Amino acid sequence: MTTRRLTEHLPFGEKRDPRFFGQDILSVSQFDREDLETIFEVAHEMYGMVERIGTFDLLKGKVLTNLFYEPSTRTSSSFVAAIERLGGSVVQINNVTYSSVSKGETLQDTVKTMESYTDAIVLRHPEKGSAALAAAAASKPVINAGDGPGEHPTQALLDAYTIREEMGAIDGLTITMLGDLKYGRTVHSLAKLLTLYDVKINYVSPDILQMPELLVKEVDAAGIDQYETTDLDDVLADTDVLYVTRIQKERFENPNEYDMVKDSYVITPETLTMAKESMIVMHPLPRVGEIATEVDNDPRAAYFRQMEYGMYVRMALLALVLGRA
Ligand code: NCD
Repeated sequence: MTTRRLTEHLPFGEKRDPRFFGQDILSVSQFDREDLETIFEVAHEMYGMVERIGTFDLLKGKVLTNLFYEPSTRTSSSFVAAIERLGGSVVQINNVTYSSVSKGETLQDTVKTMESYTDAIVLRHPEKGSAALAAAAASKPVINAGDGPGEHPTQALLDAYTIREEMGAIDGLTITMLGDLKYGRTVHSLAKLLTLYDVKINYVSPDILQMPELLVKEVDAAGIDQYETTDLDDVLADTDVLYVTRIQKERFENPNEYDMVKDSYVITPETLTMAKESMIVMHPLPRVGEIATEVDNDPRAAYFRQMEYGMYVRMALLALVLGRA
């Protein structure tokens, strides 16, 4: 197939970093440490700009598609806020029942449609590998906002940014991931991304929700020290970052299995009495009982700050991918 390019001109002030400009964001595996430094630096600038002036015209004229085949509050709305704070706009498709998807249109055709109207596509879809499929069909950048139990790279970037902002650095830390490590795409992406740093990773989960073996092998091959347990007490006292996740009810084939594990872990103020004063508690949210609301007032509760960091990181990514960072 030949692709017809309509125009090929560089608007005034446009800066194109070839590592990001026009690129898909599909997996954290595509980044090296220097890429992360760039993203974090730009995110920090975005924070400063939002503090000072709120909305500015960096991406004026750019239009984003937010194509969501699965529920979302934070990822979807933080991308909307990100493009709007940068002066761009968004076409939002988050109820696919009302789009041609309900008539049986393929993901590829829907993506080809949206790229003819807009400059980049943020996609969330229930199937692992869907973002890569969409990217293969599209000539404009596709940003993976969660492909089933696969990956959630922009979440991992904001998680790493949160750790850096809150703890000062990522190297040297012990990070404990808790909850649904089998189906949780955020921990899949985060564990892979952390291989770029000198960290120790603990996995705490019910037996049936362990981190996939392949991923553990990949992380091991990068020389990262990993430890698996079902008991948080084994590792809590040594933990610098406690990353809590929701049991992913929607991914269970057998509802009885969900019922067996749904209340496995609940973080309470009492849990935190056993933890370091300097530890932070993170969660990609939504939570459904795994962190008691009484924990919210503890300064170690970083999950609401984590959401805000997410907008700056997504602003940075959009600016880099659309060529104006
Ligand atoms: C997560 C997701 O969708 O993977 N949410 C998010 O993007 N912040 C976590 C979850 O749904 O449990």
